[in-house]
Amino acid sequence: MPIRILVVEDNPRTLDIYKGALQRKVMAVGPVGSPDGGAPVALEVEGADAVSLALEKLKSQAFDLLVVDLKMPGSSGEEMGGLEVVAESLTLDPLRPVIVITGYGSIALARQTLREGIFDFIEKSDNAVDMLIDSARKAIAHRDEKVLRSGNPFTAMTGVEPTVFGGRNKELEFLEQRLDRCLKAKYCEHFLVLGNWGIGKSTLLREFKKLQQSRGNLACIVPLEPHQPGTRLADVSRSVVEGILRDLPFPVDRFKRLVKYFDSAGVTVLGTGLQFSRDTTDRHLSPQAFLHDSLLHLWHDLNCKTQSLLILLDDVDNFLPVPEILQTLQTTLLMTSIREAKILVGLALAQESWLTLTSTRLHHPLARFFLPRVELGPLTESEVRTTIVKSLSETGVSFSPDILSNVYQVTDGHPFEMQILCHHLFNNQLSRRVGIDVWDKALEAAINDLGAAVFDRWFHEASAEEAKVLTLIAAARGPVSAKDVKEAAEAKKVRISPPSITKYLQRLSEKQVITKTGRGMYAIPDRMFRAYIASRHQTE
Ligand SMILES: Nc1ncnc2c1ncn2[C@@H]1O[C@H](COP(=O)(O)OP(=O)(O)OP(=O)(O)O)[C@@H](O)[C@H]1O
Ligand SMILES: [Mg+2]
Repeated sequence: MPIRILVVEDNPRTLDIYKGALQRKVMAVGPVGSPDGGAPVALEVEGADAVSLALEKLKSQAFDLLVVDLKMPGSSGEEMGGLEVVAESLTLDPLRPVIVITGYGSIALARQTLREGIFDFIEKSDNAVDMLIDSARKAIAHRDEKVLRSGNPFTAMTGVEPTVFGGRNKELEFLEQRLDRCLKAKYCEHFLVLGNWGIGKSTLLREFKKLQQSRGNLACIVPLEPHQPGTRLADVSRSVVEGILRDLPFPVDRFKRLVKYFDSAGVTVLGTGLQFSRDTTDRHLSPQAFLHDSLLHLWHDLNCKTQSLLILLDDVDNFLPVPEILQTLQTTLLMTSIREAKILVGLALAQESWLTLTSTRLHHPLARFFLPRVELGPLTESEVRTTIVKSLSETGVSFSPDILSNVYQVTDGHPFEMQILCHHLFNNQLSRRVGIDVWDKALEAAINDLGAAVFDRWFHEASAEEAKVLTLIAAARGPVSAKDVKEAAEAKKVRISPPSITKYLQRLSEKQVITKTGRGMYAIPDRMFRAYIASRHQTE
């Protein structure tokens, strides 16, 4: 994309001089790492010889830099019409650099009048053109630097996102309380973080870990691996211990007591991996004894380095095929001997998985044991706004107010959806400004990404007939009954085969593709999913 400059000056001859000089002498260079790769990029210089024309151009076109002579007739005949242009530019895009040209002797007054948002002031004089060129070069470099420094701040899956952690004050406070109890009480503490897909469980764990580390406490996150049903519990315990060791900031051989224990238990350390070199059937080394002894020895190795050890198990959904491991964990944490250790264990997973894990009679007491919990919901509107605005603050890019409220409206504060949508909005900026004109394009791209990440899978949970019902629900404004769906199907001439719409609604609800909102009433709660169905799978 070329760099575009708008020059506003009512004297046509002076305007031509400024334009010509800028075009010839200012060379713009694309940021390193950008598609232009640090190479010269094209420069386009536009002129406007009247305030009204300048205002019109600012509103309808994208500019990276504004050069404006203050002294020209304003739209109501005032002398300093340039002020209007400056004000409009600052409203439309507060981060666009503005270079103001003032009459001879009036620079001090201009500086006083325009305190904020002006990149440079140039006084009309013999060397004004040279000063203008110099200033324009600096303004463009400044803008490039801002864009370069940041890149797109809404990029998922980088492992370090989000750029700005929003909201979750209550949740962090709760986690702090658990840690506090752990330090004071004479037993290990634990908690659950429950929440649906993409709601921010892993992000909350990372934030809590960072907080603890900043206070000099040791913390680790263990992303649990998927296990096959029938995997031996000893192997599951081993992989948990392995995960803990992998994320601690010391090599395993620094843990003298632990390594000695491993030796005696027939466990070989291979880099950060562990291997049983002995028969580990429960008779010889119970998974519980292994977990307990490893944690206790680890604590003895670490307690001179930290006040507490925070162990965060993420994606506990992966325990579904081996639910007994939770029992092992519970029993371990309840053993008298481990109570001296200041260990706080957190488990993060989806609500549904937790219900399944604790649904059998055998596991019922687990539900009581793991009672302390935070249930993550969406971010509030003001948290969404603050997160977006703060994320943008270093980038030189701004989202218009209607974009900010649209993002909240359509995502309902779901962090993952918010991030994907903002990513595409950012990519569609026009001269560092994201306005409503790019909304549809960015939304479509976000729906595409979300389709690939989750929605395609959800949609294909539905059978062909159920999919027709789902599509009709997506087209409705609010919750619908079987009768509403039937009427909509008739109106759209969609034939739905037996058994019945009621049955399909029940099945979709069992598959959790839709939710029951009242007696016989159903809806698709996720607006982005509704938009996805509407755009991809609409019935003719
Ligand atoms: N508090 C937050 N502030 C800003 N962005 C957030 C926040 N929480 C989550 N996000 C963003 O939302 C996305 C999803 O978050 P995260 O991966 O933590 O969700 P999750 O609940 O662990 O999802 P999954 O169920 O898929 O494991 C991330 O890319 C993250 O950047
Ligand atoms: Mg996660």
